[in-house]
Parts: sequence; C-alpha cells; structure tokens
Amino acid sequence: VKNVVNLTYQEPAPVRKIVLGFSQLGSESAWRNANTMSIREAAEEAGIELHFENADQSQTKQFEAIRSFIKQKVDVIAIAPVIESGWEPILKEVKQAGIPLIMLDRLANVSDPSLYVTYIGSDFYEEGRKAGKYVIDKMSSKDNIGIVELVGTEGSTPSIARGKGFRDVIKDRANFKILKSEPADFTFEQGKKVMKSFLTKMGGEIRVLYSHNDDMALGAIEAIEEYGLRPGKDIIIISVDGTNKAFEKMAQGKINSVVECNPLLGPNLMQAVNELIQGRSLPKRIVTPESVFTETMAEAEVGKRKY
Ligand code: AHR
Repeated sequence: VKNVVNLTYQEPAPVRKIVLGFSQLGSESAWRNANTMSIREAAEEAGIELHFENADQSQTKQFEAIRSFIKQKVDVIAIAPVIESGWEPILKEVKQAGIPLIMLDRLANVSDPSLYVTYIGSDFYEEGRKAGKYVIDKMSSKDNIGIVELVGTEGSTPSIARGKGFRDVIKDRANFKILKSEPADFTFEQGKKVMKSFLTKMGGEIRVLYSHNDDMALGAIEAIEEYGLRPGKDIIIISVDGTNKAFEKMAQGKINSVVECNPLLGPNLMQAVNELIQGRSLPKRIVTPESVFTETMAEAEVGKRKY
C-alpha cells in the first residue's frame, strides 16, 4: 500500500528543567533576605529548578554547598561570596567539572578570570563615593568633622569598595577625620554594639556616622538615643541599601541620606542562566543601576520600597 502515514501518537520528550545551584552567603540583613526572596521568585517564574543553600556567613559552608552542586551535576552554579579571598581552588574544581559559574552581588578575588562567566551586582565603589559626596555637601563647615564608620563583613567586596570610594572622595578635605572604623558584620546587633563602643570612647567628637548598610545604621540609632544624643541631628547619618525601615527613619529625620543598593537581582540572574544555557556569551560585568535618597524625598518613598 502506497503513502500510508503512521498516525500513532507519540508523547513529546519531557523538557528537562535547567538546574541552578545557588550558594547564598547568609541572612544577616533585610537586604539579604530580599535578595534571597527575589532569587526564589525569579527562579519559579523562569521555570528554573533552584537548589538553594544558605551558608550563615561561613565560607567553609559555601565550599560544601558548591561541592554538593558539583556532585548533583547542576547546569549552572551561582555564588554570593561572603569574603573576596580564598576562592581559587574551589572555583578550579567547578571549572574542571565543566559547570559555568556566575558571581552574584559580591566578587571572589581570583587571578584567573576564566573561573567565572560574569559578575552581576552593584558598583560598591560608586556607592562609597556617593556617600562621601553627600557628607561633603552636607558638612560645609571648616571646623573638624569627626567621622565614624561601621564597616560590614571584613574582607567582603562591599566593605572594601564602599570604604575606598568614601575615602577617595573625602581625602581632599583636611578637616574631615575618620576617628574610628570597625567591622560590624552588616547586622543590627553588631551595629548597635560597635556604635555604643564608639560613643563611650569618643562621645561628643562624633559628627558623622557612615554605615555600610541599613541594619547596622538602625542598630546605631538605638545606641545613639540610649547615649542621649539625637540621630540625624547631633550625629549626621548616611547609610547604604535603601530598605523600608531605613526610609521610615529617614522620614523621621533620624537618617539623613541613604545610598541605594538593589538586592532584587533574581531576574538578572535567571536571564543570565537562560542565556548561558542557550550558548550566548555574557558581558564579564553586569552592573545594576541605583540612586541616592535624602530626607526630603523620604516621606514620598516610604511604603513604596520593595524591600
Ligand atoms: O553585599 C551587599 C551587602 O550585603 C548589603 O549592603 C548588606 O545589607 C548585605 O548584608
């Protein structure tokens, strides 16, 4: 019989989901929690299977997570490295396994750039510069301006770059003095504790607090009030992130300015993963756009923030 078409129905081959292993560094701040949420939601929306591990601020736990992703033969690995150093050996293991690696939010400092495909996140150096510019504009007096700095996690990309950007901008102002700079791990509790110790040692000499994130600034506000000074008035406060809670304090005049750092990186990450799997090449650096907010804008923005 000629021209007989076989019409037997054949099940389409099941489409295998892309599997992404993500090593989140911790849950130390409101920013971090918003970042985690954004990644989970974006993975769900993009139909990407997310294997998520939280390292509780431990680099060793991040190594364990990465090794387990290699064992699971995930398609792509993404990491938010807690600190910059010490990554080269583990990233070589990832490369040997033939799994592409994306850095998200923070950078691992490696001598071989082929160990990662792209780095997606904020320009922390620019954030530090923006904070410095705000302080210079705000403090026009020629008198000595005593500054204290709450640094985030020692050795982390945002702490290194925010500190450098800030210093590069204020360095030409001889009357600006950084009295003390100490790590407070990006947490509310440490921010309060370290600010308390600054106040005990230097009290009235402090005119400006530069905090590397909102959680530490919120803790510091409590310490300043308990010490009997007025945050935002006796001590000018500039912070980084732009969380809703910080905006509430800014609307009350207790924080003077916030440099935005956007945690909502989930959609950027999923887009990068999809493009990688489709064989497209990605730029080595993907920077997220960000603004600066001051007290006058705070009221209109409170409640509108997504994190
Ligand atoms: O790496 C981004 C920083 O990490 C955010 O500014 C801070 O809040 C977080 O913990």
